[in-house]
Amino acid sequence: MKREMRAAKYDEFKGPKGVEVGTLEVPELKEGEILVKIKAAGVNPVDAVITNGYYKDMMPHSFPIIPGWDFAGVIEEQGHAARRFKVGDEVFAYARRPEVKWGTFAEYIVIPECYVAKRPENISVEAASAIPLAGLTAYQSLYQYGKLSEGQKLLILGASGGVGSFGIQLAKAKGAEVIGVASSKNHDYMKSLGADHTIEYKDSDVGKAVKEIYPEGVDLIFDCTSGDTLRQSLGSLRDSGKVVSILNQGDDFPKIDFQFVFVEPNALQLDHLRQLVGDGKVKVQVSSVFSLEEVAEALEQIQTLHTTGKIVIRP
Ligand SMILES: NC(=O)c1ccc[n+]([C@@H]2O[C@H](COP(=O)([O-])OP(=O)(O)OC[C@H]3O[C@@H](n4cnc5c(N)ncnc54)[C@H](OP(=O)(O)O)[C@@H]3O)[C@@H](O)[C@H]2O)c1
Repeated sequence: MKREMRAAKYDEFKGPKGVEVGTLEVPELKEGEILVKIKAAGVNPVDAVITNGYYKDMMPHSFPIIPGWDFAGVIEEQGHAARRFKVGDEVFAYARRPEVKWGTFAEYIVIPECYVAKRPENISVEAASAIPLAGLTAYQSLYQYGKLSEGQKLLILGASGGVGSFGIQLAKAKGAEVIGVASSKNHDYMKSLGADHTIEYKDSDVGKAVKEIYPEGVDLIFDCTSGDTLRQSLGSLRDSGKVVSILNQGDDFPKIDFQFVFVEPNALQLDHLRQLVGDGKVKVQVSSVFSLEEVAEALEQIQTLHTTGKIVIRP
């Protein structure tokens, strides 16, 4: 039987203001897929970037597009051979698919079950929905590519943001020492997440400020901002150090061990993040919750790149 759902959607690349609520048919379940009723969906800067058409030459897009790549929800139906979970299981996922079309700011999503993991149950569904994209980005950048280890010194640029907040906590879970860079209004917040030191980027040279704290420099820079802040910070990288960036490909820095990361869906890593949340090592601060009708407003807020904590849509 055909099922309909309410969804935020857009038919042209007009930025957040082109997003409106409408009704769409829920796609049929295919082999290996599950139908999830979405209870909450985390908002990320990329959702706003996509409404402006920034990725249109890099990934296939098909209108109407439902924005959103994060969700937490409950399984309502299972397709043929989708048997890792059962109906009623509470799950979460980073739902970036090969084609940009079926997003998470909607009542339902149909998705291969391999994308999905059981969600942490010791936190709210809103907080759980804010973990996958930003949490996996920090996880892959620090653990998988940065190979961060106990006792290392880490500098995080943009450490109060969605990704940086997970970065601080994942680094502390590994036993690293962390300097967080963000504006002064966020320094107490970064310390509450575990940052050992904080630096303001607006009126100081970040690299020099790091050297005052660690004269020998840092082992790893996790770049979530790029621009002048990244350039300045390179002066504080040890000779053997490495940069992992989620914004910069590193072409301008050929002499530096530089790794660009574009986050990939990974259900096993989501399982590990759930354990870290369950152990109280990773917390999520939800700063605001919006309805489907308010998606454009949420996207306008996230694209300022000055959100503290995470914002969430509740369909
Ligand atoms: N490659 C990937 O896979 C990937 C994945 C996720 C995100 N991203 C990108 O990474 C960026 C960060 O994502 P996010 O979700 O963390 O964004 P966010 O939640 O908006 O956080 C951005 C943070 O950066 C800080 N900031 C802004 N300008 C800064 C500067 N010049 N120096 C230092 N800090 C600065 C802000 O703090 P203040 O308000 O205190 O300035 C804010 O806390 C976005 O551009 C996003 O599109 C890429």
